[in-house]
This record gives sequence, C-alpha cells and structure tokens, in this order.
Amino acid sequence: MSVKFTRREFLAASLVSCVAALVGCASRSQSAQEGAASTTAGSAASNNASASGSTSAATQPAGNGKALVVYFSYTGHLDTMAHWLADETGSDLVRVTAVDAYPDDYDATVERAKTELDNGTRPQINVNLTPEQLKEYDTVFFGFPVWWYDLPMPMVTFLENNDLSGKTVIPLLSHEGSSNGANALPNLEKLAKGATVRSQDALSIHGKDVDGSESAVRSWATDLGYSK
Ligand SMILES: Cc1cc2nc3c(=O)[nH]c(=O)nc-3n(C[C@H](O)[C@H](O)[C@H](O)COP(=O)(O)O)c2cc1C
Repeated sequence: MSVKFTRREFLAASLVSCVAALVGCASRSQSAQEGAASTTAGSAASNNASASGSTSAATQPAGNGKALVVYFSYTGHLDTMAHWLADETGSDLVRVTAVDAYPDDYDATVERAKTELDNGTRPQINVNLTPEQLKEYDTVFFGFPVWWYDLPMPMVTFLENNDLSGKTVIPLLSHEGSSNGANALPNLEKLAKGATVRSQDALSIHGKDVDGSESAVRSWATDLGYSK
C-alpha cells in the first residue's frame, strides 16, 4: 500500500525516472542512518553525538559570525549535500536524527512519517544545542528532504526546541517531485520565529540529481556570499 501510494503521489508530480531514485534510496537508508562523519569542530557540534564539523571555529563566512549547517537525512542525499556545503562555507555541521530511529524499511518509514505528520508528533531528537552555542551563529543552513509535502517532523522538533530568532535561515532541500517544498517552506517560516528565512534563495535538488550536484551546491553558497 505505502509503496504504491508513495509512487503515485510523488511521481505524479515528477517523472517516471523517479522510480529508480526511490528504489535506490531504499538501499541506501542503512548507511544514511548511521550518523555523520566522525570528526567534530565547533562547540555546537561537540555537544551532539550525531554531529560532525569540517573546520576550525575560527573560520568565518561572509557575515560577521559563523554559519551552522543543520540537516536531517534518511536516505543520504541531504547528508551528502550538507557535507559539501559545510566544506565550502567552513560551517559547523549538525545532523538531526530521531532518538527512535526510522526503520531501514523505506515503506515503513513512509508510513510512520505520514502518521507523525497527521498526528502532529514531535519525535525526540538527538541534538541538544544550548542557547550559548546557538549564539555563535548568524546563519543557519537548514537542510531537509521533503516528507509528505512538508518538513520531516524531527526538523519541526528542532525548530521548536531551538530559538533561531535574529538569525538568517537558508533552506536546502531535496525531493522526488515537490521541488518547491510544498508546505515545507511556509512552515519553516512560521516555525523559525524571529528569524529571516530566505525561502526565495533556497536550493532544491531532485533526489536523482544529488550525486551530480556538488558544484551546484558549492556555487549556490558562494553566490550567496558564504565561502571560506
Ligand atoms: C517519508 C518520506 C516522504 C516523502 N515525501 C515526499 C514528498 O512529499 N514529496 C517529494 O517530492 N518527495 C518526497 N519524498 C522523497 C524525498 O524527499 C527524496 O527522496 C529526498 O531526496 C530524500 O533525501 P534524503 O536522502 O536526504 O533523505 C519522501 C521520502 C520519504 C522517505
């Protein structure tokens, strides 16, 4: 049921080529859930088991302060993109994961995500940034896959647990047809209270194109003025 439903819904808005992407995604889910790279840098990253950082705390983006890449990824696309972005910008990197990890089975995850969205569930997450840590960052790159035309619920938890007011939030997303993120960007704007959410500058990459998107991700960040 969920496979058919997933394909009918997501592929209606995209093309038949997405089938391969969805199938490919399923086989990558295990490695994607195993956590980000092992090194840590920056005080935010050091507080999180699932976080990794790519640069020293001294690295500065174009703004006056540092940038943080916060992302969620199930099948690995955002994980890949977030690492390119952090490397390009010298940002710290934090991966949001659910304490109760999503199953490796793709269809089971699709079902659970739908239930969570319908019920307004806020899954507990493995990221716990203190206000002092967050204060270091002027900019938060916010990376997520579109889930059921919306934000994955763990990212809703993140937005409700962390005060991003006064910061610039720049979305980075991946999808299988919902290229404008559907409800996700309006919801991000609503949930990131007091932040400037640059939805018009969001980078959106189709799942099947992620592997070839390194230069697009890097030049997007550079064009926005974030480069180490
Ligand atoms: C639970 C779930 C729900 C999804 N819902 C949508 C959707 O509504 N629209 C869409 O275009 N893609 C949807 N997708 C596809 C993902 O957004 C897409 O494969 C993305 O590239 C995955 O990123 P990731 O590898 O970082 O998890 C969904 C995938 C999953 C697992």
